[in-house]
Amino acid sequence: MSEQATTPPGIVPGITPPGQTPYSAWIQTDVLHTLQTPVSDHPGEHAWIASVQVSELYWMLIIREIQTAQRQLREDRLPEAIQTLQRIVAHHEPLNATWKSIAWMTPTDLLSILSRAVAKYGKDTALQGWTYRQMVYLFGIRQAEHLQHFEPQPERWRQLNQVLDAPSLYDDVLRCLDRAGFAIPAAVRERDYRQPYAPDREVERAWRDVYTSGEGGNDRRADQPALRLLGETLADIAEGFLAWKHLHLMATRRTFGHRPAYFGTEGIAWLRPTMDELPFPELWTARGVIGDPPAGCPMHKSGSAA
Ligand code: HEM
Repeated sequence: MSEQATTPPGIVPGITPPGQTPYSAWIQTDVLHTLQTPVSDHPGEHAWIASVQVSELYWMLIIREIQTAQRQLREDRLPEAIQTLQRIVAHHEPLNATWKSIAWMTPTDLLSILSRAVAKYGKDTALQGWTYRQMVYLFGIRQAEHLQHFEPQPERWRQLNQVLDAPSLYDDVLRCLDRAGFAIPAAVRERDYRQPYAPDREVERAWRDVYTSGEGGNDRRADQPALRLLGETLADIAEGFLAWKHLHLMATRRTFGHRPAYFGTEGIAWLRPTMDELPFPELWTARGVIGDPPAGCPMHKSGSAA
C-alpha cells in the first residue's frame, strides 16, 4: 500500500484546524470531554457529573430560547415566538430524563460523593447554579434573595441583576396580549420587574377572553387563535418545569431523606413549598372560569373572574 500522505476526506487544509476533524472542531469534543473531573472514587460519580452538566446545557438552551421568544413577542411575531417556545417544551423531555441516569443512587452513594466534593471545594448547593436561576427569573418567578449565592461570582451577580431589572417572558406575553386587544392593566405592564409578580384579576379575565370570547363570532381580535396556542404552549412549559421539580423532590426523598441541607433545615421541607412555583399564574387560575357550564350544572356560575 502506498505510504503517500493524503488529505482525509472532509479535511480542508487551511480551514480545518490542525489536529482536528471538522466534527471535533465544531462540536469541541476534545474540550467537552476534559470537563468531567470526579472528586471521589465512586464508579457512579461520572453519571452524576454528566447528568448535572447535561442539565446545565439544557438550562442554557432554554434561556437562549426564552430570549429569542421575547424578541419575537416584542415585534408581535407570534407564530415564530410560538415555534420557539414549543422547542422549550421539547427540551424539557431530555432534561427531565436526566434523572434516570442517577435513579440508582442510594443515600450511601450520594453521601460518599458529596462528602468528597465538600472536602475538595467547600459546602455546595445547587442554589449556587446561575443558569437555573436565570431561567426561573426569565419565566417570571422573581426571588431576589437567591442573588446572595452569586456574590463570589461578580459577573454572574451582575448578569442576574440585569435579568431581574428587565421584563420576564410572562411580562412580554402580557404586553403582547394587551396590544392584541386583551386589556392588561398599566400597573401590571409597567410594574417593577424586580418584585415578585402579583397575580391580577384583570389579567385572569384577559386569559379567559383569549380562550372564550371568539366563540361568540363577533370578536375583533384577529390574533386570538394564535394567543390561545401561545397560552397552551406556556402551560406545556410550566408542566415541564414542574415535572422537573417533582423528579428532583423525589430524588431528594430517595437519597437524602430528612437530613438537614444547605441552610441547616430539612432539605425536603425547604423544597416542598417551591412546588408551588407555577409560572404564568393567571393562565392557570383562568382555567376555573373558562368554559360555560350549562344551566343546572353544579358548577354553573362558579369561578373567580366576573
Ligand atoms: C439526587 C440528589 C439530590 C439531592 C438530595 C438534592 C437536594 C437539594 C436540596 C435539599 C435543595 C434545597 C437547597 C439546599 O439546601 O441545597 C436542592 C435545590 C436544588 N437542586 Fe438539588 N438535589 C439533588 C440533585 C440535584 C441535581 C442532580 C440537580 C441538577 C441537575 C439539582 C439541582 C437543584 C436546583 C436547581 C435546586 C434549586 C431549586 C429551587 O430553587 O427550587 N439537584 N437540592
